[in-house]
Amino acid sequence: MKTLMQMDPPEHTFYRRLLTADFMVRKVEGLRPGIQRLVDDLIDTMLAGPRPADLVEALALPLPSLVICELLGVPYGDRAFFQRVAGELVMDEGDPARAVAASEELDGYLDGLLEEAGDGILGRLAGGGAMTRPEIRTMAQLLLVAGHDTTANMIALGTAALLANPDQLAAVRDGDAALVANTVEELLRYLSITHTEARRVALEDLEVGGQLIRAGEGIVVVKSVANRDPAAFPGPGTLDVRRKARHHVAFGYGVHQCLGQPLARVELQVVYGTLYRRIPTLALAVPLERLDFKDHAVFYGVRELPVTW
Ligand code: HEM
Repeated sequence: MKTLMQMDPPEHTFYRRLLTADFMVRKVEGLRPGIQRLVDDLIDTMLAGPRPADLVEALALPLPSLVICELLGVPYGDRAFFQRVAGELVMDEGDPARAVAASEELDGYLDGLLEEAGDGILGRLAGGGAMTRPEIRTMAQLLLVAGHDTTANMIALGTAALLANPDQLAAVRDGDAALVANTVEELLRYLSITHTEARRVALEDLEVGGQLIRAGEGIVVVKSVANRDPAAFPGPGTLDVRRKARHHVAFGYGVHQCLGQPLARVELQVVYGTLYRRIPTLALAVPLERLDFKDHAVFYGVRELPVTW
């Protein structure tokens, strides 16, 4: 079944509108206190455990899936199951058969959840009548896949990038909310983690940068190149948390621009605004070059981020 990402208007417009309200800035701001509690709890648990700890497992992976649980209306008791399946769904270089099995398992679970029609997005969509059950399940899986590993990689890789640039980290740690928000934009630009670039087919002849693209030809839009264009971002190879970077295209551009970006921003602002303040001595437990970078994965990141404090 097609997801939003494979649809064109007007079909795309119809389905996307059913979710627009859930991801509006005002709505997502209401989730901030709950996200802050989740981040604080995950940090408490990490601090109570042994050192070094893996920040991917302790914070980066669980946070986005717990937030999506809240959003979709997954009951508290099912969170451990949901987190396991979300982890298996993650599109790494891993075993595709395992991802398919996880997707089927999740579909079965979502069916049960739709019966209960809770108060999250799923309950509302199930009660709304505009979407069929299979369509709602597909949408839920898209939200999970699109919102989980992306945000997780930004948390871990963003932290690695800041730890590798201690003056920048110190500025964020001592900075105000506006500087933390700016840091989120700069790290989104600098890291450009979505390596599955936007693929499009030209519907009519058009010209981009003096190059004629004929109707029917395919285009791969490489966001990381745009995000390092010196005309848009002077000295683009430097991580500068004070730079104005909000015009980056890390969330894409046009009708398919990331639906969840307000939520991703709040999650990252809470993490970057909390982690380094609560653990001012946070440090990598292995040299940066020994980190296991996901060179061939859909979303760029690190498999583990061993940290100490
Ligand atoms: C830092 C984290 C994130 C990054 C870097 C990111 C990046 C992107 C990008 C680049 C696209 C556009 C793909 C294209 O043009 O083909 C996209 C689309 C999308 N994202 Fe995100 N995303 C993030 C977090 C989230 C979150 C938290 C959610 C929801 C829970 C989400 C839901 C979606 C959905 C549903 C689409 C498809 C929109 C459409 O086709 O209309 N994303 N994302």
